[in-house]
Amino acid sequence: MKTRITELFEIDRPIIQGGMHHVGLAEMAAAVANAGGLGMITSLTQSTPADLTAEIRRCREMTSKPFGVNVTFLPSVKQPDYPGYIRAIIDGGIKVVETAGNNPQKWLPLLKEAGIKVIHKCTSVRHALKAQAIGVDALSVDGFECGGHPGEDDVPNFILLPRAAEELSIPFVASGGMANGRSLVAALAMGADGMNMGTRFIATKEAPVHQRVKDAILNATELDTRLIMRPLRNTERVLNNAGVERLLQKEREIGAGITFFDIAPEVAGVYPKVMKEGDMDAGGWSCGMVVGLIHDIPTVQELLDRIMLEAETIINERFRTVVA
Ligand SMILES: Cc1cc2nc3c(=O)[nH]c(=O)nc-3n(C[C@H](O)[C@H](O)[C@H](O)COP(=O)(O)O)c2cc1C
Repeated sequence: MKTRITELFEIDRPIIQGGMHHVGLAEMAAAVANAGGLGMITSLTQSTPADLTAEIRRCREMTSKPFGVNVTFLPSVKQPDYPGYIRAIIDGGIKVVETAGNNPQKWLPLLKEAGIKVIHKCTSVRHALKAQAIGVDALSVDGFECGGHPGEDDVPNFILLPRAAEELSIPFVASGGMANGRSLVAALAMGADGMNMGTRFIATKEAPVHQRVKDAILNATELDTRLIMRPLRNTERVLNNAGVERLLQKEREIGAGITFFDIAPEVAGVYPKVMKEGDMDAGGWSCGMVVGLIHDIPTVQELLDRIMLEAETIINERFRTVVA
């Protein structure tokens, strides 16, 4: 399949694995790259820029295909060494960066000068237009159903994607709720040039996370995610668990005066506990409503082969009979 996204990033399939804290390690990014998509290492999971350099090198040993690095600019207690991470990306010869969170304008000249293409993830047409205006190469448009940070506008992809198509001129991928061939065809129909998946990629053989995380995804339905940190205007969609219930209880009890420090036990340092140790009640970890569509743990190659076959079958067979 050829779209503006496959051309831009020189990949075979218009499928991207979005940055995922403590999931987007070399194993994940390499598996997606080897299956013809665009995998991403998540920079902030690496404690230092030197660790990111080592992770990029490790990924190179697992694939000869291109892969990218995600850089997330979100509110955090301790400001990460962004200049150091950007330097590690440039020196590591990376050619694609996914930015997310705050406006990446400050970093664009450095990245562009190094020949790096930037795909910025955003959750509103307003922010997408701004990113386009400052010169990013592509966008990942993330609907309200997405795992992670859906923003504060709550516009689901059935509206957000066609609105993005009305306004944008640069290529964009649909993100949030994407799982299978139907998702890909729908994304293309709504004007996107491909799709970005997060949650679906965690339930794969290669995802470097505890088996209990994969099992939790298999066992969950589309009703099992919750929105946390709404009062802080830093909303995150997570899989429900005892820690999340505790956090939501605090949000109800403390009300508008709540601060990050009130909920820190349920959000700070939770990812390694969940992803590495399989402590499934530790607190909030990002997960999309798309869990309701995930019923198996294939290899990444099997997953992408199946998605492409299903998409092509819908286009060539189902659409033909419907049109006839
Ligand atoms: C466990 C997990 C961790 C994530 N961490 C990040 C992150 O660190 N930075 C980022 O930009 N997006 C992050 N995301 C969002 C994904 O890149 C992607 O945009 C999102 O998962 C798409 O929605 P979906 O889960 O419905 O596919 C994360 C998502 C998940 C599921």
